[in-house]
Amino acid sequence: MSVDQNQKDRITQAVRSRYGGLAEQSMEKSQRVSCCGGGQSCSCGSDSGLSEEAAEFYNSAELEELSKSVTDISLGCGNPTTIGDLKPGQTVLDLGSGGGIDCFLAAKKVGPTGQVIGLDMTPKMLDLARANAKKQGVKNVDFRYGYIEDIPLPDASVDVIISNCVINLSADKATVFSEAHRVLRPGGVLNVSDIVTYSGLPQQLVEQLSAWASCISGALDEEEYLGLMRTAGFSRIEVLERKYYSPDLISADEGVQALLEESKLDLSKLDKKIASITLRAYKDKF
Ligand SMILES: C[S@@+](CC[C@H](N)C(=O)[O-])C[C@H]1O[C@@H](n2cnc3c(N)ncnc32)[C@H](O)[C@@H]1O
Repeated sequence: MSVDQNQKDRITQAVRSRYGGLAEQSMEKSQRVSCCGGGQSCSCGSDSGLSEEAAEFYNSAELEELSKSVTDISLGCGNPTTIGDLKPGQTVLDLGSGGGIDCFLAAKKVGPTGQVIGLDMTPKMLDLARANAKKQGVKNVDFRYGYIEDIPLPDASVDVIISNCVINLSADKATVFSEAHRVLRPGGVLNVSDIVTYSGLPQQLVEQLSAWASCISGALDEEEYLGLMRTAGFSRIEVLERKYYSPDLISADEGVQALLEESKLDLSKLDKKIASITLRAYKDKF
Protein backbone atom coordinates (compact mmCIF):
# COMPACT_ATOMS: atom_id res chain seq x y z
CA MET A 1 0.00 0.00 0.00
CA SER A 2 1.57 3.31 -1.00
CA VAL A 3 0.87 6.33 1.17
CA ASP A 4 1.29 9.92 -0.07
CA GLN A 5 3.02 12.68 1.89
CA ASN A 6 -0.26 14.22 3.12
CA GLN A 7 -1.43 10.90 4.50
CA LYS A 8 1.98 10.36 6.14
CA ASP A 9 1.76 13.78 7.80
CA ARG A 10 -1.76 13.05 9.02
CA ILE A 11 -0.68 9.71 10.48
CA THR A 12 2.33 11.30 12.20
CA GLN A 13 0.11 13.99 13.73
CA ALA A 14 -2.46 11.45 14.90
CA VAL A 15 0.24 9.25 16.47
CA ARG A 16 1.90 12.22 18.17
CA SER A 17 -1.41 13.47 19.49
CA ARG A 18 -2.37 10.06 20.89
CA TYR A 19 0.95 9.43 22.62
CA GLY A 20 1.33 13.04 23.75
CA GLY A 21 -2.06 12.68 25.43
CA LEU A 22 -1.02 9.48 27.15
CA ALA A 23 2.22 11.06 28.39
CA GLU A 24 0.32 14.05 29.72
CA GLN A 25 -2.19 11.81 31.46
CA SER A 26 0.63 9.89 33.08
CA MET A 27 2.50 13.03 34.19
CA GLU A 28 -0.39 15.15 35.39
CA LYS A 29 -2.57 12.61 37.06
CA SER A 30 0.18 10.16 37.97
CA GLN A 31 -2.03 7.40 36.69
CA ARG A 32 -1.41 4.24 34.79
CA VAL A 33 -2.18 4.49 31.13
CA SER A 34 -2.56 1.96 28.39
CA CYS A 35 -1.64 1.94 24.74
CA CYS A 36 -4.94 3.19 23.49
CA GLY A 37 -6.13 5.39 26.31
CA GLY A 38 -9.38 3.52 26.79
CA GLY A 39 -10.51 3.80 23.18
CA GLN A 40 -12.69 1.24 21.49
CA SER A 41 -10.03 -0.11 19.23
CA CYS A 42 -6.42 -1.12 19.37
CA SER A 43 -4.40 -3.99 20.47
CA CYS A 44 -2.40 -3.51 23.59
CA GLY A 45 -3.06 -2.65 27.18
CA SER A 46 -6.10 -2.28 29.35
CA ASP A 47 -7.56 0.75 31.06
CA SER A 48 -6.70 -0.38 34.50
CA GLY A 49 -2.97 -0.25 34.79
CA LEU A 50 0.17 -2.01 33.63
CA SER A 51 -1.50 -4.30 31.16
CA GLU A 52 -1.66 -8.00 31.83
CA GLU A 53 0.35 -8.42 28.65
CA ALA A 54 3.08 -6.07 29.90
CA ALA A 55 3.21 -7.78 33.28
CA GLU A 56 3.72 -10.97 31.29
CA PHE A 57 6.53 -9.49 29.15
CA TYR A 58 8.75 -8.31 32.00
CA ASN A 59 9.78 -10.39 34.97
CA SER A 60 8.78 -8.98 38.32
CA ALA A 61 12.38 -8.56 39.49
CA GLU A 62 13.02 -6.29 36.47
CA LEU A 63 9.92 -4.23 37.23
CA GLU A 64 10.71 -3.86 40.92
CA GLU A 65 13.88 -1.97 40.05
CA LEU A 66 11.96 0.66 38.10
CA SER A 67 9.98 3.57 39.50
CA LYS A 68 6.20 3.49 39.25
CA SER A 69 6.14 6.36 36.77
CA VAL A 70 8.15 4.13 34.38
CA THR A 71 6.12 0.95 34.75
CA ASP A 72 2.84 2.86 34.65
CA ILE A 73 3.49 3.83 31.05
CA SER A 74 4.61 0.57 29.53
CA LEU A 75 3.04 0.62 26.08
CA GLY A 76 4.82 -2.25 24.38
CA CYS A 77 3.73 -5.63 23.09
CA GLY A 78 6.82 -7.63 24.07
CA ASN A 79 10.20 -7.25 25.72
CA PRO A 80 12.94 -6.78 23.12
CA THR A 81 15.60 -6.34 25.82
CA THR A 82 15.36 -10.00 26.83
CA ILE A 83 16.38 -11.21 23.39
CA GLY A 84 18.98 -8.49 22.92
CA ASP A 85 21.84 -10.29 24.66
CA LEU A 86 23.06 -6.84 25.67
CA LYS A 87 26.64 -6.54 26.88
CA PRO A 88 28.51 -3.96 28.95
CA GLY A 89 29.89 -1.13 26.85
CA GLN A 90 27.46 -1.44 23.95
CA THR A 91 25.57 1.41 22.30
CA VAL A 92 21.84 0.65 22.13
CA LEU A 93 19.16 2.58 20.25
CA ASP A 94 15.47 2.29 21.21
CA LEU A 95 13.16 3.26 18.33
CA GLY A 96 10.05 4.91 19.81
CA SER A 97 11.19 4.91 23.42
CA GLY A 98 7.97 6.24 25.01
CA GLY A 99 8.24 6.58 28.80
CA GLY A 100 11.58 4.77 28.64
CA ILE A 101 10.93 1.34 30.17
CA ASP A 102 13.11 -0.61 27.72
CA CYS A 103 15.84 2.08 27.76
CA PHE A 104 16.17 1.79 31.54
CA LEU A 105 16.34 -2.02 31.37
CA ALA A 106 18.93 -1.82 28.58
CA ALA A 107 20.93 0.83 30.50
CA LYS A 108 21.42 -1.59 33.36
CA LYS A 109 22.72 -4.26 31.00
CA VAL A 110 25.20 -2.06 29.09
CA GLY A 111 26.41 -0.45 32.31
CA PRO A 112 28.26 2.84 32.82
CA THR A 113 30.61 2.22 29.87
CA GLY A 114 27.68 1.73 27.52
CA GLN A 115 25.08 4.14 26.22
CA VAL A 116 21.38 3.95 25.44
CA ILE A 117 19.68 6.38 23.08
CA GLY A 118 15.90 6.63 23.25
CA LEU A 119 14.42 8.16 20.09
CA ASP A 120 10.88 9.54 20.02
CA MET A 121 8.97 12.16 18.03
CA THR A 122 6.48 13.09 20.76
CA PRO A 123 7.82 15.98 22.87
CA LYS A 124 5.59 15.18 25.84
CA MET A 125 6.79 11.57 25.85
CA LEU A 126 10.38 12.83 25.85
CA ASP A 127 9.60 15.13 28.82
CA LEU A 128 8.17 12.18 30.70
CA ALA A 129 11.11 9.89 29.82
CA ARG A 130 13.65 12.54 30.86
CA ALA A 131 11.82 13.11 34.16
CA ASN A 132 11.86 9.34 34.66
CA ALA A 133 15.62 9.22 34.01
CA LYS A 134 16.17 11.91 36.63
CA LYS A 135 13.96 10.11 39.13
CA GLN A 136 15.84 6.85 38.52
CA GLY A 137 19.25 8.58 38.70
CA VAL A 138 20.19 6.99 35.37
CA LYS A 139 23.12 8.65 33.63
CA ASN A 140 23.74 6.51 30.56
CA VAL A 141 20.43 7.10 28.75
CA ASP A 142 19.96 9.98 26.36
CA PHE A 143 16.40 10.67 25.18
CA ARG A 144 16.42 12.42 21.81
CA TYR A 145 13.78 13.98 19.61
CA GLY A 146 13.53 12.52 16.14
CA TYR A 147 11.79 10.24 13.68
CA ILE A 148 12.43 6.56 13.25
CA GLU A 149 12.13 7.20 9.49
CA ASP A 150 15.04 9.68 9.66
CA ILE A 151 17.27 8.54 12.53
CA PRO A 152 19.51 11.41 13.68
CA LEU A 153 22.61 9.22 14.05
CA PRO A 154 25.65 8.53 11.84
CA ASP A 155 26.03 5.40 9.73
CA ALA A 156 27.30 2.29 11.57
CA SER A 157 27.19 3.91 15.02
CA VAL A 158 24.96 1.51 17.01
CA ASP A 159 25.56 -2.07 18.22
CA VAL A 160 21.99 -3.07 19.00
CA ILE A 161 18.58 -1.61 18.15
CA ILE A 162 15.48 -2.43 20.18
CA SER A 163 11.92 -1.40 19.36
CA ASN A 164 8.71 -2.25 21.18
CA CYS A 165 5.36 -1.88 19.44
CA VAL A 166 6.32 1.18 17.40
CA ILE A 167 7.16 0.30 13.80
CA ASN A 168 3.54 -0.74 13.16
CA LEU A 169 2.63 2.91 13.79
CA SER A 170 4.83 4.22 10.98
CA ALA A 171 3.37 5.19 7.63
CA ASP A 172 6.72 4.35 6.00
CA LYS A 173 7.93 1.06 7.44
CA ALA A 174 10.34 0.41 4.53
CA THR A 175 12.28 3.58 5.39
CA VAL A 176 12.32 2.67 9.09
CA PHE A 177 14.02 -0.63 8.28
CA SER A 178 16.54 0.93 5.89
CA GLU A 179 17.39 3.60 8.48
CA ALA A 180 17.81 0.90 11.15
CA HIS A 181 20.14 -1.01 8.81
CA ARG A 182 22.14 2.16 8.05
CA VAL A 183 22.86 3.10 11.69
CA LEU A 184 23.74 -0.45 12.81
CA ARG A 185 27.39 -1.44 12.85
CA PRO A 186 28.29 -4.46 10.66
CA GLY A 187 27.28 -7.51 12.72
CA GLY A 188 24.74 -5.40 14.66
CA VAL A 189 21.31 -6.71 15.65
CA LEU A 190 17.79 -5.32 15.44
CA ASN A 191 15.45 -6.71 18.16
CA VAL A 192 11.79 -6.01 17.60
CA SER A 193 8.46 -6.71 19.26
CA ASP A 194 5.59 -5.59 17.05
CA ILE A 195 2.08 -6.29 15.83
CA VAL A 196 1.42 -8.05 12.54
CA THR A 197 -1.59 -9.56 10.81
CA TYR A 198 -2.15 -12.73 8.76
CA SER A 199 -4.05 -13.08 5.51
CA GLY A 200 -6.91 -15.33 4.53
CA LEU A 201 -9.87 -13.05 5.28
CA PRO A 202 -12.01 -10.75 3.10
CA GLN A 203 -10.09 -7.57 2.23
CA GLN A 204 -12.37 -5.20 4.19
CA LEU A 205 -11.98 -7.30 7.29
CA VAL A 206 -8.20 -7.46 6.76
CA GLU A 207 -8.11 -3.65 6.63
CA GLN A 208 -10.23 -3.30 9.76
CA LEU A 209 -8.09 -5.81 11.66
CA SER A 210 -4.95 -4.04 10.55
CA ALA A 211 -6.34 -0.67 11.69
CA TRP A 212 -7.42 -2.19 14.98
CA ALA A 213 -4.04 -3.76 15.53
CA SER A 214 -2.05 -0.62 14.99
CA CYS A 215 -4.67 1.97 15.99
CA ILE A 216 -3.65 4.41 13.32
CA SER A 217 -1.51 3.57 10.34
CA GLY A 218 -2.31 -0.10 9.85
CA ALA A 219 -0.29 -3.16 10.79
CA LEU A 220 1.24 -5.22 8.00
CA ASP A 221 0.91 -8.85 7.11
CA GLU A 222 3.85 -10.72 8.64
CA GLU A 223 5.26 -11.80 5.24
CA GLU A 224 5.18 -8.22 3.95
CA TYR A 225 6.78 -6.97 7.17
CA LEU A 226 9.64 -9.47 6.91
CA GLY A 227 9.94 -8.75 3.18
CA LEU A 228 10.55 -5.05 3.90
CA MET A 229 13.27 -6.02 6.36
CA ARG A 230 14.97 -8.20 3.76
CA THR A 231 14.77 -5.42 1.15
CA ALA A 232 16.43 -3.08 3.68
CA GLY A 233 19.38 -5.49 3.83
CA PHE A 234 18.65 -7.77 6.79
CA SER A 235 19.51 -11.15 5.31
CA ARG A 236 19.11 -13.22 8.47
CA ILE A 237 15.83 -12.80 10.37
CA GLU A 238 14.62 -15.03 13.20
CA VAL A 239 11.02 -14.86 14.40
CA LEU A 240 11.35 -16.01 18.01
CA GLU A 241 7.77 -15.80 19.17
CA ARG A 242 4.23 -15.23 17.94
CA LYS A 243 1.55 -14.41 20.50
CA TYR A 244 -1.84 -14.51 18.84
CA TYR A 245 -4.68 -12.27 19.98
CA SER A 246 -7.83 -14.15 20.85
CA PRO A 247 -10.90 -13.79 18.59
CA ASP A 248 -12.86 -12.57 21.66
CA LEU A 249 -10.45 -9.69 22.22
CA ILE A 250 -10.36 -8.67 18.56
CA SER A 251 -14.10 -8.88 18.05
CA ALA A 252 -14.75 -6.44 20.91
CA ASP A 253 -14.05 -3.80 18.25
CA GLU A 254 -17.38 -2.61 16.81
CA GLY A 255 -15.99 -2.27 13.28
CA VAL A 256 -14.70 -5.85 13.32
CA GLN A 257 -18.01 -7.10 14.71
CA ALA A 258 -20.02 -5.35 12.00
CA LEU A 259 -17.82 -6.72 9.21
CA LEU A 260 -18.00 -10.24 10.64
CA GLU A 261 -21.79 -10.06 10.53
CA GLU A 262 -21.78 -8.57 7.05
CA SER A 263 -19.50 -11.27 5.66
CA LYS A 264 -21.31 -13.99 7.65
CA LEU A 265 -18.07 -15.21 9.18
CA ASP A 266 -18.04 -16.77 12.60
CA LEU A 267 -15.67 -15.71 15.36
CA SER A 268 -13.36 -18.68 14.86
CA LYS A 269 -12.24 -17.15 11.54
CA LEU A 270 -10.37 -14.52 13.58
CA ASP A 271 -8.20 -17.17 15.15
CA LYS A 272 -4.49 -16.52 14.52
CA LYS A 273 -5.11 -13.41 12.44
CA ILE A 274 -3.24 -10.89 14.62
CA ALA A 275 -0.14 -11.48 16.72
CA SER A 276 2.56 -9.65 18.55
CA ILE A 277 5.78 -11.10 17.24
CA THR A 278 9.27 -10.89 18.63
CA LEU A 279 12.11 -11.12 16.18
CA ARG A 280 15.80 -10.63 15.71
CA ALA A 281 17.42 -9.43 12.46
CA TYR A 282 21.15 -9.24 11.76
CA LYS A 283 23.20 -6.83 9.70
CA ASP A 284 25.91 -8.76 7.87
CA LYS A 285 29.43 -8.49 9.30
CA PHE A 286 31.00 -7.76 5.92
C1 LIG B 1 3.15 2.19 21.60
S1 LIG B 1 4.28 3.41 22.21
C2 LIG B 1 5.61 2.35 22.71
C3 LIG B 1 6.54 3.02 23.67
C4 LIG B 1 7.65 2.13 24.24
N1 LIG B 1 8.41 1.48 23.21
C5 LIG B 1 7.10 1.12 25.22
O1 LIG B 1 7.31 -0.08 25.02
O2 LIG B 1 6.47 1.53 26.20
C6 LIG B 1 4.88 4.16 20.72
C7 LIG B 1 5.91 5.27 20.92
O3 LIG B 1 6.56 5.48 19.66
C8 LIG B 1 6.60 6.86 19.34
N2 LIG B 1 6.56 6.95 17.86
C9 LIG B 1 5.57 6.51 17.06
N3 LIG B 1 5.87 6.73 15.77
C10 LIG B 1 7.10 7.31 15.76
C11 LIG B 1 7.96 7.79 14.73
N4 LIG B 1 7.59 7.69 13.46
N5 LIG B 1 9.15 8.32 15.07
C12 LIG B 1 9.53 8.41 16.38
N6 LIG B 1 8.75 7.99 17.41
C13 LIG B 1 7.55 7.44 17.10
C14 LIG B 1 5.39 7.45 20.02
O4 LIG B 1 5.55 8.83 20.26
C15 LIG B 1 5.31 6.62 21.31
O5 LIG B 1 6.05 7.19 22.34
